[in-house]
Amino acid sequence: MSAPPLNPALFHLDREHLWVMHCSEGPVPRAAIRAVRAFLQKELRPWDVRWEEDFQGIPAATREAAAALLGGRAEDISLSPSTSTGLVAVAQGFPWQPGDEVVAPLGEFPSNAWPWLALKPRGVAFREVPLWEGHRSGAEAWSSLPPTAATDPEARLIAALGPRTRLLALSWVRFQDGLKLDLQRLGRGCRERGVHLVVDGIQAAGTVPADLEGLSAFATGGHKGLLAPQGMGFLWTDEAFRQSLAPSGTWLSVEQATDFSRPSTDFDRAWLLDGRALEPGGPNLLQASALLESLRMLHEAGVPAIAVHVAALQTRLLEALEGSPWAAECRRLRALLEAGRLGSFLAFHHGGAGAEHLQGLLQAGHRQGILASVREGYLRVAFHGFHTGEDVDRVAGWLSGTAS
Ligand SMILES: Cc1ncc(COP(=O)(O)O)c(C=O)c1O
Repeated sequence: MSAPPLNPALFHLDREHLWVMHCSEGPVPRAAIRAVRAFLQKELRPWDVRWEEDFQGIPAATREAAAALLGGRAEDISLSPSTSTGLVAVAQGFPWQPGDEVVAPLGEFPSNAWPWLALKPRGVAFREVPLWEGHRSGAEAWSSLPPTAATDPEARLIAALGPRTRLLALSWVRFQDGLKLDLQRLGRGCRERGVHLVVDGIQAAGTVPADLEGLSAFATGGHKGLLAPQGMGFLWTDEAFRQSLAPSGTWLSVEQATDFSRPSTDFDRAWLLDGRALEPGGPNLLQASALLESLRMLHEAGVPAIAVHVAALQTRLLEALEGSPWAAECRRLRALLEAGRLGSFLAFHHGGAGAEHLQGLLQAGHRQGILASVREGYLRVAFHGFHTGEDVDRVAGWLSGTAS
């Protein structure tokens, strides 16, 4: 197996903790901690904090790094505390008319449901679309059938777009079943129908190469595959789409806001046209310092190389489990992987065994120092660019029941 594209020594990983759950929260590299510490140190001596280098420079560099990772332009990036806040900026800023509708796949993570559900008093409906036969969510989530490579979720979503649909909002990689949707195909389908495609990208950012063509907006928090602490992510918006949104209305969302040679109380100013118009106010420089380091590290390693590495680790795990009780699940996941339908985590469906069974498995994993997660009937095993073949073999030992 080739060397991991992210050197494990960049992180504080140890033998006692095999963290295969960046789909919940990613480990933060040492460099990000150093950057935060250095900035806090400056805050001890505020005269050391530089206006251009820090107050403006850190957010600007972070927007640049986010754009580089996505293959977009820095002026289309808005720094935003979380996926939710990015989506809320779109939901609250969009020029809705009563009777408009948002379509979403069934069973989205709540960050991509509540911003749209909150629009009900404005006459905007939220409609969920099952992505395959037997797909269930909510109270019935555990009785859902899992997706297979034979399903065509994009066709179902595109067919569901109606005359009142203004926006299709979906996760690039879904949080429970791990299914990756084809954004380019969805983007084409949306564009042909005059619908905006808005993406919750948090489960793919940093591990799946991005292509923004056909998207109107892309929101992500930084604390999963982007390997930054909770509290800072970003929103990318297509320029024309952004001009249709109401600005956030903070003091920094207008022109010359920080030019103090002009009275700040002169309100005769235009809104900024770039992504800063959607930012939530004064920048969080500590969080941005950390995210900036993580983004640079990921960009240097290369997201395409990380994706290839993760797929190789996933293949190795599925092969290792072929003779185990997970054999049928491995065939389903293998077919999805080969069809390019998976992100960075393998979601093993409980197959009727139930919550207690998965909970017991998780606990057995914990006893072996393997930290994974369960959501809505799926046991999630997430690999990133820093995992190794040896890590996979430990997971295989745990899941096949051969390790104790
Ligand atoms: C698909 C998805 N979206 C969003 C989030 C988190 O949203 P936020 O960044 O708002 O905390 C998660 C996980 O917690 C998720 O799995």
